[in-house]
Amino acid sequence: MSDPRARVRIVANEPLIHARGLVKRFGSFTAVDGIDVDVQPGEAFGFLGPNGAGKSSTMRMVGCVSPPTGGTLRILGMDPRRDGPAIRGRLGVCPQLDNLDPELTVRENLTTYARYFGIPRKVARQRADELLDFVQLSERAGSKVEPLSGGMKRRLTIARALVNEPEIVLLDEPTTGLDPQARHLVWERLFRLKQQGVTLVLTTHYMDEAEQLCDRLVVMDGGKIVAEGSPRELIDRYSTREVVELRFAAESQAGFADKLAGIGERVEVLPDRILLYVEDGDAALAAVHERALTPASVLERRSSLEDVFLHLTGRTLVD
Ligand SMILES: Nc1ncnc2c1ncn2[C@@H]1O[C@H](COP(=O)(O)OP(=O)(O)OP(=O)(O)O)[C@@H](O)[C@H]1O
Ligand SMILES: [Mg+2]
Repeated sequence: MSDPRARVRIVANEPLIHARGLVKRFGSFTAVDGIDVDVQPGEAFGFLGPNGAGKSSTMRMVGCVSPPTGGTLRILGMDPRRDGPAIRGRLGVCPQLDNLDPELTVRENLTTYARYFGIPRKVARQRADELLDFVQLSERAGSKVEPLSGGMKRRLTIARALVNEPEIVLLDEPTTGLDPQARHLVWERLFRLKQQGVTLVLTTHYMDEAEQLCDRLVVMDGGKIVAEGSPRELIDRYSTREVVELRFAAESQAGFADKLAGIGERVEVLPDRILLYVEDGDAALAAVHERALTPASVLERRSSLEDVFLHLTGRTLVD
């Protein structure tokens, strides 16, 4: 058998993932509408966007399970159309929905998966034990998958994605549906992977997840990239330093927006609250009180990626 790596065309400083004008269509519907992405070695790169933004469609093209409809895509210096198996051998994939085998035990889910990569039995068993330890599932090694909690299943899927010692790990919504404690455990493990030099590519519609994990991210909406940068850069570019959230005890918040005009840089009216985008929250609140306005509740906070998304699209990330 020929060495799959022999087909790698080495290009100096080529990113691990390189997409230009990448398109995915389903019939006449365009799910991914000409995106440009470069992911560098060792980066934690995120696709942040609401439901239907095209995140999973992009991940499936990168994972070489869904052929691009148009544009350029190169992964690890190779072409997914031609070199799918060689690329897949060096990727780890954690799909949006866990697809663990319920007939197998926790450990067998890893050892069986390892066989797809031609990993010898003995090595597979040893690696499975190390990975179960890494995701803190050693005690459940012999149990079936079904009784595991959502967080445990997610950790097992992540462990499975690591069986072939991948250079890039694709994580499609790694913590959606998990409780806060389970999410933090997953974040902590992903952070360790990153420290080991593994390149992480993840999707999320949680702004806090993107802020915690991603060195750099793109904000996607309707199949397009609407912004790109580090979390800090995006907040600096598209939002103010602070945000004051006001709730008025009235059916509609909209009537108060005019009365707040001129306070801060921008006023955003949501169904249940009004957001004031300001540099100094305390000064803004003083101005609110000077106008004899008395909100039922007040929250002062720092700007987040949620504010960036709202500014760029006029919508909130999670409805
Ligand atoms: N196999 C398919 N056939 C037809 N349409 C599809 C298919 N897969 C995805 N779509 C559509 O493409 C759009 C983007 O879907 P995609 O799953 O990529 O979004 P997403 O950003 O991952 O959303 P979510 O946050 O809900 O997972 C959606 O409108 C979806 O309905
Ligand atoms: Mg998705």
